[in-house]
Amino acid sequence: MCEKCKGKYYITTPIYYPSAKLHIGHAYCTVATDTMARFKRLQGYDVMFLTGTDEHGQKIEDKAKEAGVTPQQFVDDIVTGEKGVLDLWKLMNISYDRFIRTTDDYHVAAIQKIFKKMYDNGDIYKGKYVGKYCKPCESFWTESQLVDGKCPDCGRECVDAEEEAYFFRLSKYADRVQDLLENTDFLEPRSRVSEMVNNFIKPGLEDLCVSRTSFTWGVPVDFDPGHVVYVWIDALFNYMTALGFENDKYDDLEKFWPADVHFIGKEIVRFHSIIWPAMLMSLNLPLPKKVYGHGWLLLDGGKMSKSKGNVVDPYVLSQRFGVDALRFFLLRTFPFGSDGNFSNELLINTINVDLANDLGNLVSRTVAMAQKYFGASLPQVQQGDEEKDAELLAMAGSLRSKYEEQMEKYAFQNALAEVFKVISRANKYIDENAPWVLAKSEENYPRLARVLYNLLETVRICGGLLSPFMPQTAEEIAKRLGGAAMDWDSLAVFGKLPADVATVAGPALFPRIDVEKELAELEKLHQEALKEAQPALEIAPYAQENVDFDTFCKNDFRAVKVKACVPVKKSDKLLQFTLDDGTGTDRQILSGIAKYYKPEDLVGKTLVAIVNLPPRKMMGRESCGMLLSAAHTEKGEEKLNLIMLDDAIPAGAKLC
Ligand code: ME8
Ligand code: MG
Repeated sequence: MCEKCKGKYYITTPIYYPSAKLHIGHAYCTVATDTMARFKRLQGYDVMFLTGTDEHGQKIEDKAKEAGVTPQQFVDDIVTGEKGVLDLWKLMNISYDRFIRTTDDYHVAAIQKIFKKMYDNGDIYKGKYVGKYCKPCESFWTESQLVDGKCPDCGRECVDAEEEAYFFRLSKYADRVQDLLENTDFLEPRSRVSEMVNNFIKPGLEDLCVSRTSFTWGVPVDFDPGHVVYVWIDALFNYMTALGFENDKYDDLEKFWPADVHFIGKEIVRFHSIIWPAMLMSLNLPLPKKVYGHGWLLLDGGKMSKSKGNVVDPYVLSQRFGVDALRFFLLRTFPFGSDGNFSNELLINTINVDLANDLGNLVSRTVAMAQKYFGASLPQVQQGDEEKDAELLAMAGSLRSKYEEQMEKYAFQNALAEVFKVISRANKYIDENAPWVLAKSEENYPRLARVLYNLLETVRICGGLLSPFMPQTAEEIAKRLGGAAMDWDSLAVFGKLPADVATVAGPALFPRIDVEKELAELEKLHQEALKEAQPALEIAPYAQENVDFDTFCKNDFRAVKVKACVPVKKSDKLLQFTLDDGTGTDRQILSGIAKYYKPEDLVGKTLVAIVNLPPRKMMGRESCGMLLSAAHTEKGEEKLNLIMLDDAIPAGAKLC
């Protein structure tokens, strides 16, 4: 380790499900982790910041099928595609040191070894799983854990599940885990401990089902084909495989494990504070030092999702407000351990009050006055100990330690509050000392220079301490202060800025936003995005001419059952149907729907045919009637759906 290093620090975010594009709620945790990582680097730690994606599981398999692509193609698009996860972290200025994808070969192979180890030591055994499964959460539940028959995490329907499966002896570790939760500060905020102990451990911790056979998109259990490893086992061990556990890709395990902290959202605390330590205990591995379960960013009091339109699109928000403002807002506005309600209005107000008014004004006024009164650089001035300066100097001089105390507790909001107390004090100091009045007579110039020096030095300290939150802004502030140092040591002492500092002017750091106008524009964008998300449906124009009733009644519509259905050779449109029409003689109909259906999917279906059309030859075959379907156009593409009847309706039934 280098001499200056304080030691090593390992911090992680959850690895994200690439099942849909990420929203600002996802960015919340990653921005917090990034801020913590940057803070630790600033302090002088050798930091490993890990993030990544959790790419296996039934949800992904289902979504890929829906999209008509392979699961790997599906996740690749969301992770590495345009505006995907990697793009988003780049945009948000996330300084991760390593990125793991659970589909990476080294991780898959390591998970197989880990699973086998727990099987060999007797903590994983084969049994039969009977219970409930929540697909969206990829969680198994026992009947007793369901809330009103629904998933206790997300409130959605669970499905019955029964299959041969492997189990992890979670029950064996119940006492040790309870002790860990209750008697150490492993899990924070402490308010989350009683929920874990009372809801999950005390009612009796059951063994955990850790393999599945009903789908294939996962890490295969190599000694029992057909089983895939439960996605949470696969996911949790990412924190160690990414350092080289059970693989040769990396070699940092000894250096960085155990992790200093896992930052995670509150809904996955159970996995991280019960299952994760139990598995590590099973393998005799050191436990992470801390799990911190942060709150949720809510939208109108409810859970956030991309389907709510672009109000939560980090691309739209950072394009309009800037990445630093967005990062700052997330950590300044909501206490990290609790839920917070996101709104555009709150975002704009935070930017206007804290960034445009307080910080932005302090920087621009101070630099502008230094330039106006002293030109290129301040004259060398002696530090005075005037009473008038004492409060500002004391506050700025002790800011680092107050800030540090809060940061060490992950209390980002409080750390920022400390910085902004000093910023406000400095703005007040400008008004108290009225540099524009001092500037009126030359004999006040030494005092004027000192006033400006005190302000610039306060700006330096605040800028440096803001750097983990707003890296680009801090860099810009350093530039305006003539490339001032903002290293950790220098932020503890008032007076490190060279007395003859050469300031550099620049535009406002954060222009004031017109709240009404901006909200209206965001609303417009939001409506447009919502419209775009809707499929553009078109239906055929309605007929202008009526048919008389008797003519209509001549049409003979019947229920028909599909006995066989095959594609017509050399035609990419036609399917040939052999139909039971109730007469005892098969009826053959050709229909141009090959584009929309697989022939084998239609066998057994009950359809509607008009049976008194004159027979017609198509591609050399006879078609006796026509199958009815519903037609519409979607995003310019024609869609056809066969009219299907309830299978209880017998073949030959007349539709009237
Ligand atoms: O849970 N506010 O992945 P994920 C705050 N793959 N945080 C939010 C949020 C919101 N509105 N929405 C999501 C998973 N998050 C697993 C993790 S770790 C071994 C496996 C947070 O993509 C959420 O709380 O569903 C979670 O911590 C993270 O985003 C990833 O969620
Ligand atoms: Mg989730």
